Amino acid sequence: MVNTRWAALGVAAALVTACSVGGTQPTKPLFTQAPAPQTGGPSCLLPDVPTVDDGRGDPYFPKDGGPGYDVTHYKLKLKYDPPTDTLTGTATIEATALERLSELHLDFHGMKISKATVGGTLVTPTRIDDSLTVPLPVPVEKDAKLSVQIDYSGVPQSLDEGNAFGTNGFLHTTEGAFAIGEPHSATTWIPVNDHPRDKALYDFELTVPANLAAITNGVRTSETVAGGLKTSTWKVTSPMATYLATLAIGDYRVTEGTHKGLPVINAVHNSIPATTRVDEDIARNGEVLDFLVEKFGPYPFDALGGIVINDDRISFALETQTRPIYGNGFWGATRSNTDVIAHELAHQWFGDSVSVDTWQHIWLNEGFATYAQWMWAEDEGRVTTQQEFDRRYATETSPIWSVPPGCPGRARIFDSSVYNRGAMTLHMLRDKVGDEKFFTILQTWVKQKKDSNATTPQFIALAEEISGQQLDDFFNAWLFGKSRPRI
Ligand code: TRP
Ligand code: ZN
Repeated sequence: MVNTRWAALGVAAALVTACSVGGTQPTKPLFTQAPAPQTGGPSCLLPDVPTVDDGRGDPYFPKDGGPGYDVTHYKLKLKYDPPTDTLTGTATIEATALERLSELHLDFHGMKISKATVGGTLVTPTRIDDSLTVPLPVPVEKDAKLSVQIDYSGVPQSLDEGNAFGTNGFLHTTEGAFAIGEPHSATTWIPVNDHPRDKALYDFELTVPANLAAITNGVRTSETVAGGLKTSTWKVTSPMATYLATLAIGDYRVTEGTHKGLPVINAVHNSIPATTRVDEDIARNGEVLDFLVEKFGPYPFDALGGIVINDDRISFALETQTRPIYGNGFWGATRSNTDVIAHELAHQWFGDSVSVDTWQHIWLNEGFATYAQWMWAEDEGRVTTQQEFDRRYATETSPIWSVPPGCPGRARIFDSSVYNRGAMTLHMLRDKVGDEKFFTILQTWVKQKKDSNATTPQFIALAEEISGQQLDDFFNAWLFGKSRPRI
Protein backbone atom coordinates (compact mmCIF):
# COMPACT_ATOMS: atom_id res chain seq x y z
CA MET A 1 0.00 0.00 0.00
CA VAL A 2 2.59 2.54 1.05
CA ASN A 3 4.80 2.34 -2.00
CA THR A 4 2.24 2.01 -4.71
CA ARG A 5 -0.34 4.50 -3.54
CA TRP A 6 1.97 7.38 -4.42
CA ALA A 7 1.36 6.55 -8.05
CA ALA A 8 -2.28 7.51 -7.60
CA LEU A 9 -1.32 11.01 -6.55
CA GLY A 10 -0.87 12.26 -10.09
CA VAL A 11 -4.32 11.05 -11.00
CA ALA A 12 -5.94 12.62 -7.97
CA ALA A 13 -4.15 15.92 -8.57
CA ALA A 14 -5.29 16.00 -12.17
CA LEU A 15 -8.88 15.65 -11.02
CA VAL A 16 -8.70 18.71 -8.82
CA THR A 17 -10.45 21.49 -10.60
CA ALA A 18 -10.23 25.13 -9.66
CA CYS A 19 -12.10 25.74 -6.46
CA SER A 20 -15.23 27.68 -7.00
CA VAL A 21 -15.95 31.03 -5.49
CA GLY A 22 -19.58 31.83 -6.13
CA GLY A 23 -20.82 35.30 -7.02
CA THR A 24 -23.36 37.08 -4.86
CA GLN A 25 -26.88 36.13 -5.71
CA PRO A 26 -29.25 37.21 -2.96
CA THR A 27 -32.03 34.94 -4.13
CA LYS A 28 -29.91 31.82 -4.12
CA PRO A 29 -31.46 29.05 -2.02
CA LEU A 30 -29.73 27.57 0.98
CA PHE A 31 -26.95 25.12 0.33
CA THR A 32 -29.07 22.38 1.91
CA GLN A 33 -31.71 22.82 -0.71
CA ALA A 34 -29.42 23.07 -3.68
CA PRO A 35 -26.48 20.68 -3.42
CA ALA A 36 -24.12 20.64 -6.37
CA PRO A 37 -25.29 17.79 -8.57
CA GLN A 38 -22.35 15.37 -8.50
CA THR A 39 -20.43 15.59 -5.25
CA GLY A 40 -23.02 17.32 -3.10
CA GLY A 41 -20.50 20.06 -2.48
CA PRO A 42 -18.06 22.56 -3.90
CA SER A 43 -16.47 21.52 -7.14
CA CYS A 44 -12.97 21.15 -5.74
CA LEU A 45 -14.05 18.29 -3.47
CA LEU A 46 -13.22 15.02 -5.17
CA PRO A 47 -15.77 12.27 -5.56
CA ASP A 48 -14.99 8.94 -3.94
CA VAL A 49 -12.78 6.77 -6.08
CA PRO A 50 -14.12 3.47 -7.31
CA THR A 51 -12.69 0.67 -5.21
CA VAL A 52 -10.51 -0.60 -8.06
CA ASP A 53 -7.48 -0.51 -5.77
CA ASP A 54 -9.35 -2.61 -3.23
CA GLY A 55 -9.25 0.45 -1.02
CA ARG A 56 -11.95 2.21 0.92
CA GLY A 57 -12.64 4.87 -1.72
CA ASP A 58 -10.63 7.81 -0.38
CA PRO A 59 -9.73 10.19 -3.23
CA TYR A 60 -6.45 11.24 -1.58
CA PHE A 61 -5.47 7.76 -0.38
CA PRO A 62 -7.26 5.34 -2.71
CA LYS A 63 -5.33 2.29 -1.51
CA ASP A 64 -6.08 2.78 2.17
CA GLY A 65 -8.40 0.26 3.74
CA GLY A 66 -10.55 -2.32 2.07
CA PRO A 67 -14.10 -2.39 0.74
CA GLY A 68 -17.17 -4.43 1.53
CA TYR A 69 -16.88 -5.02 5.25
CA ASP A 70 -17.08 -3.17 8.51
CA VAL A 71 -14.78 -4.06 11.39
CA THR A 72 -16.73 -3.90 14.63
CA HIS A 73 -14.01 -4.98 17.03
CA TYR A 74 -10.26 -5.53 17.19
CA LYS A 75 -8.97 -7.73 19.97
CA LEU A 76 -5.22 -7.35 20.21
CA LYS A 77 -2.89 -9.44 22.27
CA LEU A 78 0.55 -7.87 22.00
CA LYS A 79 3.87 -8.70 23.56
CA TYR A 80 6.90 -6.47 23.08
CA ASP A 81 10.47 -7.45 23.88
CA PRO A 82 12.65 -4.30 23.84
CA PRO A 83 16.11 -5.95 23.71
CA THR A 84 15.21 -7.66 20.40
CA ASP A 85 12.66 -5.06 19.27
CA THR A 86 10.28 -7.91 18.66
CA LEU A 87 6.53 -7.55 18.70
CA THR A 88 4.45 -10.71 18.88
CA GLY A 89 0.74 -10.32 18.29
CA THR A 90 -2.57 -12.02 17.86
CA ALA A 91 -5.26 -9.90 16.28
CA THR A 92 -8.84 -11.09 16.37
CA ILE A 93 -10.89 -9.02 13.97
CA GLU A 94 -14.67 -9.16 14.15
CA ALA A 95 -16.35 -7.80 11.06
CA THR A 96 -19.68 -7.65 9.27
CA ALA A 97 -19.93 -8.14 5.51
CA LEU A 98 -21.49 -5.14 3.76
CA GLU A 99 -21.89 -7.10 0.53
CA ARG A 100 -21.22 -10.59 -0.80
CA LEU A 101 -17.54 -11.22 -0.09
CA SER A 102 -14.95 -13.84 -0.96
CA GLU A 103 -11.92 -12.11 0.55
CA LEU A 104 -10.99 -9.32 2.91
CA HIS A 105 -8.50 -6.60 2.06
CA LEU A 106 -6.63 -5.37 5.09
CA ASP A 107 -3.51 -3.19 5.44
CA PHE A 108 -0.38 -4.45 7.15
CA HIS A 109 3.20 -3.21 6.94
CA GLY A 110 6.13 -5.54 7.59
CA MET A 111 5.92 -8.30 10.22
CA LYS A 112 5.59 -11.99 9.55
CA ILE A 113 2.26 -13.78 9.66
CA SER A 114 2.57 -17.24 11.18
CA LYS A 115 -1.07 -18.27 11.11
CA ALA A 116 -4.42 -16.97 9.91
CA THR A 117 -7.90 -18.36 10.43
CA VAL A 118 -11.37 -17.29 9.42
CA GLY A 119 -14.11 -18.65 11.67
CA GLY A 120 -11.54 -21.15 12.96
CA THR A 121 -10.61 -22.45 9.49
CA LEU A 122 -6.98 -22.09 8.44
CA VAL A 123 -6.46 -19.78 5.46
CA THR A 124 -3.41 -18.51 3.56
CA PRO A 125 -3.29 -14.72 3.23
CA THR A 126 -1.32 -13.05 0.45
CA ARG A 127 0.38 -9.71 0.48
CA ILE A 128 1.31 -7.21 -2.22
CA ASP A 129 3.25 -4.36 -0.68
CA ASP A 130 1.16 -3.45 2.36
CA SER A 131 -2.13 -4.76 1.06
CA LEU A 132 -3.08 -7.97 2.84
CA THR A 133 -5.69 -10.23 1.26
CA VAL A 134 -7.35 -12.77 3.52
CA PRO A 135 -9.34 -15.33 1.50
CA LEU A 136 -12.58 -16.57 3.06
CA PRO A 137 -12.97 -20.37 3.21
CA VAL A 138 -16.41 -19.90 1.65
CA PRO A 139 -17.88 -16.67 0.25
CA VAL A 140 -20.32 -14.96 2.61
CA GLU A 141 -23.46 -12.94 1.99
CA LYS A 142 -24.19 -9.37 3.07
CA ASP A 143 -24.64 -9.01 6.85
CA ALA A 144 -22.65 -12.17 7.61
CA LYS A 145 -20.42 -11.97 10.67
CA LEU A 146 -16.77 -12.79 10.24
CA SER A 147 -14.08 -13.56 12.76
CA VAL A 148 -10.53 -13.39 11.46
CA GLN A 149 -7.57 -14.29 13.62
CA ILE A 150 -4.02 -13.39 12.62
CA ASP A 151 -0.91 -14.44 14.54
CA TYR A 152 2.18 -12.42 13.69
CA SER A 153 5.58 -11.34 14.91
CA GLY A 154 8.61 -9.39 13.83
CA VAL A 155 10.50 -6.14 14.23
CA PRO A 156 7.95 -3.42 13.43
CA GLN A 157 9.08 -1.03 10.70
CA SER A 158 8.00 2.60 10.66
CA LEU A 159 6.63 4.31 7.56
CA ASP A 160 8.76 6.94 5.93
CA GLU A 161 6.12 9.00 4.21
CA GLY A 162 8.34 11.75 2.88
CA ASN A 163 8.31 15.41 3.80
CA ALA A 164 4.56 15.81 3.86
CA PHE A 165 4.01 13.32 6.66
CA GLY A 166 7.41 12.41 8.14
CA THR A 167 8.27 9.19 9.91
CA ASN A 168 5.21 7.53 11.35
CA GLY A 169 4.10 4.32 12.95
CA PHE A 170 5.74 2.06 15.50
CA LEU A 171 9.02 3.62 16.60
CA HIS A 172 11.63 1.93 18.76
CA THR A 173 13.26 3.89 21.53
CA THR A 174 16.28 3.18 23.73
CA GLU A 175 14.29 1.14 26.22
CA GLY A 176 10.90 0.67 24.57
CA ALA A 177 8.67 1.92 21.77
CA PHE A 178 5.69 4.09 20.91
CA ALA A 179 3.30 4.41 17.97
CA ILE A 180 2.25 7.70 16.41
CA GLY A 181 1.16 8.75 12.93
CA GLU A 182 -1.50 10.34 10.77
CA PRO A 183 -2.95 9.41 8.37
CA HIS A 184 -1.11 6.09 8.80
CA SER A 185 0.38 4.39 11.82
CA ALA A 186 -1.60 1.32 12.89
CA THR A 187 -0.53 -0.79 9.90
CA THR A 188 2.98 -0.98 11.35
CA TRP A 189 1.79 -2.93 14.38
CA ILE A 190 -1.76 -4.21 13.73
CA PRO A 191 -3.42 -5.70 10.64
CA VAL A 192 -6.23 -3.18 10.11
CA ASN A 193 -8.78 -1.74 7.73
CA ASP A 194 -6.77 1.47 7.62
CA HIS A 195 -9.31 4.19 6.95
CA PRO A 196 -11.27 6.42 9.36
CA ARG A 197 -14.47 5.32 7.58
CA ASP A 198 -14.15 2.00 9.37
CA LYS A 199 -14.09 2.82 13.06
CA ALA A 200 -14.21 -0.01 15.58
CA LEU A 201 -14.01 -0.90 19.26
CA TYR A 202 -10.73 -2.22 20.65
CA ASP A 203 -9.53 -4.47 23.44
CA PHE A 204 -5.80 -4.50 24.10
CA GLU A 205 -3.69 -6.87 26.14
CA LEU A 206 -0.10 -5.62 26.44
CA THR A 207 2.78 -7.64 27.83
CA VAL A 208 6.11 -5.92 28.48
CA PRO A 209 9.06 -6.24 30.88
CA ALA A 210 7.79 -5.54 34.39
CA ASN A 211 10.09 -2.54 34.89
CA LEU A 212 8.49 -0.58 32.03
CA ALA A 213 5.20 1.26 31.75
CA ALA A 214 2.83 0.22 28.97
CA ILE A 215 0.02 2.55 28.04
CA THR A 216 -2.54 2.57 25.26
CA ASN A 217 -5.98 4.04 24.54
CA GLY A 218 -9.03 3.76 26.76
CA VAL A 219 -9.70 2.44 30.23
CA ARG A 220 -7.21 0.09 31.86
CA THR A 221 -9.13 -2.89 33.17
CA SER A 222 -6.35 -4.95 34.77
CA GLU A 223 -2.64 -5.13 35.42
CA THR A 224 -0.71 -8.13 36.66
CA VAL A 225 2.97 -8.92 37.09
CA ALA A 226 4.34 -12.45 36.77
CA GLY A 227 7.70 -13.93 35.81
CA GLY A 228 9.30 -10.54 35.22
CA LEU A 229 6.54 -9.49 32.80
CA LYS A 230 3.74 -7.00 33.21
CA THR A 231 0.43 -7.61 31.48
CA SER A 232 -2.27 -4.98 31.28
CA THR A 233 -5.66 -4.99 29.58
CA TRP A 234 -7.39 -1.94 28.11
CA LYS A 235 -10.81 -1.24 26.64
CA VAL A 236 -11.78 1.32 24.03
CA THR A 237 -15.55 1.56 24.32
CA SER A 238 -16.29 4.16 21.62
CA PRO A 239 -15.54 3.53 17.95
CA MET A 240 -11.97 4.57 17.11
CA ALA A 241 -10.31 5.30 13.76
CA THR A 242 -7.19 3.21 13.17
CA TYR A 243 -4.74 6.16 13.12
CA LEU A 244 -5.87 7.07 16.64
CA ALA A 245 -4.62 3.81 18.13
CA THR A 246 -1.42 4.26 20.07
CA LEU A 247 0.84 2.59 22.55
CA ALA A 248 3.77 3.74 24.62
CA ILE A 249 6.15 1.35 26.31
CA GLY A 250 9.03 2.68 28.34
CA ASP A 251 10.40 4.44 31.36
CA TYR A 252 7.60 6.89 32.12
CA ARG A 253 6.47 8.57 35.31
CA VAL A 254 2.81 7.68 35.41
CA THR A 255 0.22 9.65 37.34
CA GLU A 256 -3.20 8.17 37.85
CA GLY A 257 -6.33 9.78 39.17
CA THR A 258 -9.86 10.67 38.28
CA HIS A 259 -11.54 13.77 36.97
CA LYS A 260 -15.27 13.99 37.68
CA GLY A 261 -15.43 10.21 37.62
CA LEU A 262 -13.29 9.84 34.49
CA PRO A 263 -10.19 7.69 34.97
CA VAL A 264 -7.11 9.75 34.11
CA ILE A 265 -3.69 8.32 33.23
CA ASN A 266 -0.89 10.73 32.40
CA ALA A 267 2.64 9.65 31.54
CA VAL A 268 5.78 11.73 31.10
CA HIS A 269 9.00 10.15 29.92
CA ASN A 270 11.53 10.01 32.71
CA SER A 271 14.27 11.50 30.54
CA ILE A 272 12.35 14.80 30.66
CA PRO A 273 13.59 16.68 33.72
CA ALA A 274 11.00 17.26 36.42
CA THR A 275 12.13 20.88 36.40
CA THR A 276 10.26 21.52 33.13
CA ARG A 277 6.62 22.65 33.19
CA VAL A 278 5.39 19.46 31.49
CA ASP A 279 4.11 17.59 34.54
CA GLU A 280 2.31 20.61 35.89
CA ASP A 281 0.66 21.35 32.53
CA ILE A 282 -0.39 17.77 31.87
CA ALA A 283 -1.91 17.69 35.33
CA ARG A 284 -4.29 20.43 34.08
CA ASN A 285 -5.90 18.00 31.60
CA GLY A 286 -9.18 17.96 33.52
CA GLU A 287 -9.35 21.73 33.78
CA VAL A 288 -8.78 22.12 30.03
CA LEU A 289 -11.41 19.45 29.43
CA ASP A 290 -13.97 21.33 31.54
CA PHE A 291 -13.39 24.45 29.46
CA LEU A 292 -13.97 22.50 26.25
CA VAL A 293 -17.06 20.73 27.63
CA GLU A 294 -18.54 24.14 28.28
CA LYS A 295 -18.00 25.07 24.61
CA PHE A 296 -18.76 21.81 22.83
CA GLY A 297 -20.98 19.78 25.16
CA PRO A 298 -20.33 16.44 26.90
CA TYR A 299 -16.92 14.77 26.52
CA PRO A 300 -17.51 11.85 24.14
CA PHE A 301 -15.24 9.29 25.88
CA ASP A 302 -14.82 7.47 29.19
CA ALA A 303 -11.10 7.92 29.82
CA LEU A 304 -8.62 10.79 29.76
CA GLY A 305 -4.90 11.40 29.85
CA GLY A 306 -1.78 12.24 27.93
CA ILE A 307 1.60 10.75 27.07
CA VAL A 308 4.67 12.96 26.75
CA ILE A 309 7.48 11.36 24.79
CA ASN A 310 11.05 12.57 24.44
CA ASP A 311 12.20 11.79 20.96
CA ASP A 312 14.00 13.86 18.33
CA ARG A 313 12.04 12.23 15.52
CA ILE A 314 8.69 13.56 16.75
CA SER A 315 8.19 17.30 16.97
CA PHE A 316 4.39 17.29 17.09
CA ALA A 317 1.46 15.98 19.04
CA LEU A 318 -1.32 13.65 17.99
CA GLU A 319 -4.88 13.34 19.21
CA THR A 320 -4.70 9.58 19.89
CA GLN A 321 -8.09 8.69 21.31
CA THR A 322 -8.61 9.42 25.01
CA ARG A 323 -4.87 9.85 25.46
CA PRO A 324 -3.00 12.21 23.13
CA ILE A 325 0.74 11.86 22.58
CA TYR A 326 2.86 15.00 22.91
CA GLY A 327 6.39 15.59 21.71
CA ASN A 328 8.39 17.25 24.49
CA GLY A 329 9.44 20.05 22.11
CA PHE A 330 6.21 21.86 22.98
CA TRP A 331 7.71 22.64 26.38
CA GLY A 332 11.47 22.95 26.14
CA ALA A 333 13.36 23.70 29.32
CA THR A 334 11.14 26.31 30.94
CA ARG A 335 8.09 27.02 28.84
CA SER A 336 4.53 26.27 29.91
CA ASN A 337 2.19 25.07 27.17
CA THR A 338 -1.44 24.26 27.76
CA ASP A 339 -2.46 25.40 24.27
CA VAL A 340 -1.27 22.16 22.74
CA ILE A 341 -3.30 20.27 25.36
CA ALA A 342 -6.40 22.29 24.44
CA HIS A 343 -5.71 21.52 20.77
CA GLU A 344 -5.37 17.75 21.27
CA LEU A 345 -8.27 17.49 23.70
CA ALA A 346 -10.51 19.47 21.32
CA HIS A 347 -9.70 16.82 18.72
CA GLN A 348 -11.43 14.28 20.95
CA TRP A 349 -14.69 15.87 19.73
CA PHE A 350 -13.42 17.03 16.33
CA GLY A 351 -11.51 14.21 14.69
CA ASP A 352 -11.92 11.36 17.13
CA SER A 353 -15.64 11.23 17.94
CA VAL A 354 -16.59 12.98 14.69
CA SER A 355 -14.09 11.64 12.15
CA VAL A 356 -13.40 12.68 8.60
CA ASP A 357 -15.31 10.72 6.01
CA THR A 358 -12.36 11.10 3.66
CA TRP A 359 -9.10 12.95 4.23
CA GLN A 360 -10.02 15.95 2.11
CA HIS A 361 -12.31 17.05 4.96
CA ILE A 362 -9.33 17.39 7.33
CA TRP A 363 -10.08 21.03 8.23
CA LEU A 364 -13.04 19.62 10.22
CA ASN A 365 -10.32 18.28 12.54
CA GLU A 366 -7.52 20.80 12.40
CA GLY A 367 -9.44 24.04 11.91
CA PHE A 368 -11.69 23.21 14.86
CA ALA A 369 -8.88 22.07 17.17
CA THR A 370 -6.94 25.22 16.32
CA TYR A 371 -9.93 27.41 17.04
CA ALA A 372 -10.45 25.63 20.38
CA GLN A 373 -6.81 26.32 21.17
CA TRP A 374 -7.33 30.02 20.41
CA MET A 375 -10.39 30.12 22.66
CA TRP A 376 -8.44 28.51 25.48
CA ALA A 377 -5.57 31.00 25.11
CA GLU A 378 -8.10 33.83 25.20
CA ASP A 379 -9.68 32.39 28.33
CA GLU A 380 -6.24 32.21 29.91
CA GLY A 381 -5.88 35.92 29.22
CA ARG A 382 -3.05 35.68 26.72
CA VAL A 383 -4.12 36.35 23.13
CA THR A 384 -7.70 36.89 21.98
CA THR A 385 -9.27 34.95 19.12
CA GLN A 386 -9.71 38.31 17.37
CA GLN A 387 -5.99 39.05 17.69
CA GLU A 388 -5.17 35.60 16.30
CA PHE A 389 -7.48 36.33 13.39
CA ASP A 390 -6.28 39.89 12.77
CA ARG A 391 -2.60 39.04 12.79
CA ARG A 392 -3.05 36.41 10.11
CA TYR A 393 -5.53 38.36 8.07
CA ALA A 394 -3.14 41.31 7.94
CA THR A 395 -0.53 39.24 6.11
CA GLU A 396 -1.74 39.63 2.55
CA THR A 397 1.08 37.56 1.13
CA SER A 398 0.63 34.62 3.48
CA PRO A 399 0.75 31.20 1.75
CA ILE A 400 -2.53 30.29 3.50
CA TRP A 401 -4.43 32.31 0.87
CA SER A 402 -3.38 30.05 -1.98
CA VAL A 403 -4.23 26.77 -0.23
CA PRO A 404 -7.98 26.25 0.21
CA PRO A 405 -8.41 24.50 3.58
CA GLY A 406 -11.58 22.77 2.39
CA CYS A 407 -9.73 20.99 -0.42
CA PRO A 408 -6.03 21.32 0.33
CA GLY A 409 -4.88 18.47 -1.90
CA ARG A 410 -3.28 15.25 -0.78
CA ALA A 411 0.19 16.60 -0.04
CA ARG A 412 -1.16 19.54 1.96
CA ILE A 413 -3.62 17.98 4.37
CA PHE A 414 -1.52 19.35 7.25
CA ASP A 415 -0.78 22.72 5.67
CA SER A 416 -0.89 25.81 7.85
CA SER A 417 -3.99 26.86 5.89
CA VAL A 418 -5.89 23.79 7.10
CA TYR A 419 -5.11 24.77 10.70
CA ASN A 420 -5.11 28.55 10.65
CA ARG A 421 -7.33 29.55 7.75
CA GLY A 422 -9.61 26.74 8.97
CA ALA A 423 -9.77 28.37 12.42
CA MET A 424 -10.22 31.80 10.81
CA THR A 425 -13.20 30.41 8.91
CA LEU A 426 -14.81 29.46 12.20
CA HIS A 427 -14.02 32.84 13.69
CA MET A 428 -15.69 34.54 10.72
CA LEU A 429 -18.67 32.18 10.94
CA ARG A 430 -19.03 33.13 14.59
CA ASP A 431 -18.94 36.78 13.62
CA LYS A 432 -21.57 36.20 10.95
CA VAL A 433 -24.10 34.15 12.95
CA GLY A 434 -23.41 35.38 16.48
CA ASP A 435 -22.16 33.51 19.54
CA GLU A 436 -25.36 31.75 20.42
CA LYS A 437 -25.96 30.24 17.00
CA PHE A 438 -22.25 29.52 16.52
CA PHE A 439 -22.04 27.36 19.62
CA THR A 440 -25.39 25.75 18.84
CA ILE A 441 -23.94 24.76 15.46
CA LEU A 442 -20.83 23.23 17.06
CA GLN A 443 -22.77 21.42 19.78
CA THR A 444 -25.40 20.10 17.37
CA TRP A 445 -22.64 18.93 15.03
CA VAL A 446 -20.84 16.84 17.64
CA LYS A 447 -24.11 15.48 18.96
CA GLN A 448 -25.45 14.47 15.53
CA LYS A 449 -22.15 13.08 14.29
CA LYS A 450 -20.94 11.41 17.51
CA ASP A 451 -19.09 8.14 16.81
CA SER A 452 -19.39 8.57 13.07
CA ASN A 453 -17.93 10.30 10.00
CA ALA A 454 -18.59 13.66 8.48
CA THR A 455 -17.97 15.87 5.45
CA THR A 456 -17.56 19.60 4.89
CA PRO A 457 -20.80 19.93 2.89
CA GLN A 458 -22.64 18.39 5.85
CA PHE A 459 -21.15 21.00 8.18
CA ILE A 460 -22.08 23.81 5.80
CA ALA A 461 -25.62 22.47 5.56
CA LEU A 462 -25.96 22.38 9.35
CA ALA A 463 -24.57 25.89 9.73
CA GLU A 464 -27.13 27.15 7.21
CA GLU A 465 -29.96 25.26 8.82
CA ILE A 466 -29.22 26.58 12.32
CA SER A 467 -28.35 30.12 11.31
CA GLY A 468 -31.10 30.42 8.71
CA GLN A 469 -28.55 32.16 6.49
CA GLN A 470 -27.39 31.35 3.00
CA LEU A 471 -23.70 30.64 3.59
CA ASP A 472 -22.31 29.02 0.48
CA ASP A 473 -20.70 32.22 -0.81
CA PHE A 474 -19.13 32.66 2.60
CA PHE A 475 -17.78 29.10 2.77
CA ASN A 476 -16.74 29.14 -0.88
CA ALA A 477 -14.53 32.13 -0.18
CA TRP A 478 -13.11 30.91 3.12
CA LEU A 479 -12.77 27.17 2.51
CA PHE A 480 -12.55 26.75 -1.22
CA GLY A 481 -11.14 29.98 -2.64
CA LYS A 482 -7.55 30.46 -3.68
CA SER A 483 -7.31 34.07 -2.62
CA ARG A 484 -7.70 36.13 0.54
CA PRO A 485 -11.43 36.56 1.20
CA ARG A 486 -12.74 40.09 1.57
CA ILE A 487 -14.16 41.00 4.95
N1 TRP B 1 -3.09 15.87 13.92
C1 TRP B 1 -1.91 16.35 14.59
C2 TRP B 1 -2.35 17.60 15.34
O1 TRP B 1 -2.47 18.64 14.77
C3 TRP B 1 -0.74 16.67 13.72
C4 TRP B 1 -0.20 15.57 12.87
C5 TRP B 1 -0.35 15.40 11.55
C6 TRP B 1 0.63 14.50 13.28
N2 TRP B 1 0.32 14.31 11.10
C7 TRP B 1 0.93 13.74 12.13
C8 TRP B 1 1.13 14.10 14.50
C9 TRP B 1 1.72 12.61 12.20
C10 TRP B 1 1.90 12.97 14.55
C11 TRP B 1 2.21 12.23 13.43
O2 TRP B 1 -2.67 17.56 16.46
ZN1 ZN C 1 -4.48 19.01 15.28
